[in-house]
Amino acid sequence: MIAFGGCGGGLPSADPNLGGDTTVFDDGSESYNYPARNLPLDQRAPFQIGDGVFNRNWITAPATPQGDDGLGPTFNALSCSSCHPNNGRGAPPTMDGESFLGLLLRLSVPGMDEHGGPMPEPSYGDQLNQHAILGVPPEGTPSVSYSETPGAYADGEAYSLRTPSYSIASLNFGPMPPDLLVSPRVAPVQVGLGLLEAVSESTILGFAAANGGHPNHVWDFTLQQSALGRFGWKANQPTVEQQTFGAFRGDIGITSALFPTKNCPAVQTACAAAPPSKTQPNLLPIESSAMAVHALTIAVPARRDLDDQHALHGEQLFAQAGCTSCHIPKMVTGTLDGWPSLSNQTIWPFTDLLLHDMGPGLADGRPDFEASGSDWRTPPLWGIGLIETINDHTFLLHDGRARGFAEAILWHGGDAAKAKDAFRTLGKNDRADLLAFLHSL
Ligand code: HEC
Ligand code: HEC
Repeated sequence: MIAFGGCGGGLPSADPNLGGDTTVFDDGSESYNYPARNLPLDQRAPFQIGDGVFNRNWITAPATPQGDDGLGPTFNALSCSSCHPNNGRGAPPTMDGESFLGLLLRLSVPGMDEHGGPMPEPSYGDQLNQHAILGVPPEGTPSVSYSETPGAYADGEAYSLRTPSYSIASLNFGPMPPDLLVSPRVAPVQVGLGLLEAVSESTILGFAAANGGHPNHVWDFTLQQSALGRFGWKANQPTVEQQTFGAFRGDIGITSALFPTKNCPAVQTACAAAPPSKTQPNLLPIESSAMAVHALTIAVPARRDLDDQHALHGEQLFAQAGCTSCHIPKMVTGTLDGWPSLSNQTIWPFTDLLLHDMGPGLADGRPDFEASGSDWRTPPLWGIGLIETINDHTFLLHDGRARGFAEAILWHGGDAAKAKDAFRTLGKNDRADLLAFLHSL
């Protein structure tokens, strides 16, 4: 089930179908925008409705006509697509003072809530909402600044890595506690999520047994029980659906059947008193079910440059450097009930969906269920070569600190330190080949 490639096996893969039969063949600025190629006709209309809701700008309640209102009272953005433009990747602010959009700050204080998750900060909740509707105070204004640290490859070529540091000004509900825990996170690409949900638990646990890393266990609000975590930068969400409705409430302030209450911590009285929408919960049932279809079935774009010798050589180096022990290239999905188009698919996501200790350099110091302050989930790499085309930037890692593939690799530490060193000690041409491989995904 695990393909290691390289090492005498000839060219390891010439399979462009990174997402199995869901794969679409487009490498332009729309390439994250398609429904799965094998999506049945009767699910295409719900996909399009979901796409509309994903792109909708929500407005303040009460509004006429009804239907698009319910924004906030506090929020991070007006729409899903403002952080995930074209279903793609958010970016951190690039200069001092630029406002936050695709990057958000999760907040907590030490301890655990009743489900074993992070303990929300009492006055601000579990996420900083820097915007609010008229008449309601926003929570505060985040900012980031960067410091540069020089380094060098084994052959002497210099590089520089930038370390972010965050602060929050204009706090409207009192100072933050000294032991505040902050986790900055950028919005990830939305492709192939249903396929990752369809990977069986035993497959994921098999990766942990073979190569190390450990799963997260988080709270499933639908089943009201603990479940394997798969989504979010710390595998802190069990299902695409829960992540989706959590984002509606936490990021935009839109309620759903799963999360029917507004996000107003007790001290935020103007938030609680703001006039409600007539639509309760704010998302209609038809919109909720369409969102679930949309979130699960966004197609993975095909791998490119299959005849480029540099990219193919880079794929071998990727295996030889040990990248494939976490970024597992190939697997077969299990059965996801009701989703034959996502089940039993041979896919190339380049992830094990497990948590790994990535060392102090990347640590946020904020535990999230069973993820420690230095654990991160291996992100899938499919589609990663298209971020620049679609989102016009190359910022990578959980907080967008890396300016391109090379810096993302050079930040790897902890359990990935050996693989990082293998990259750092490659010659210039080999490094370029490895990056060409990432670019082909
Ligand atoms: C303020 C920016 C922002 C907005 C608005 C936003 N997201 Fe996200 N999204 C994020 C961030 C940040 C993450 C990573 C969360 C984490 O690690 O906890 C994320 C993660 C996700 C994921 C999981 C992806 C993965 O690979 O794990 C899904 C699905 C998702 N968002 C859907 C949505 C939907 C649907 C909406 C609209 C209701 C939305 N998002 C609105 C920032 C945003
Ligand atoms: C021990 C597991 C592990 C190994 C080995 C590993 N990675 Fe990663 N990789 C991760 C994790 C976890 C992250 C996310 C870290 C973060 O965002 O702070 C990551 C992030 C990345 C990213 C950025 C992805 C994104 O969406 O922002 C790239 C690119 C990447 N790795 C490439 C590589 C390459 C190339 C190698 C081999 C030289 C490698 N990785 C080895 C676990 C690993």
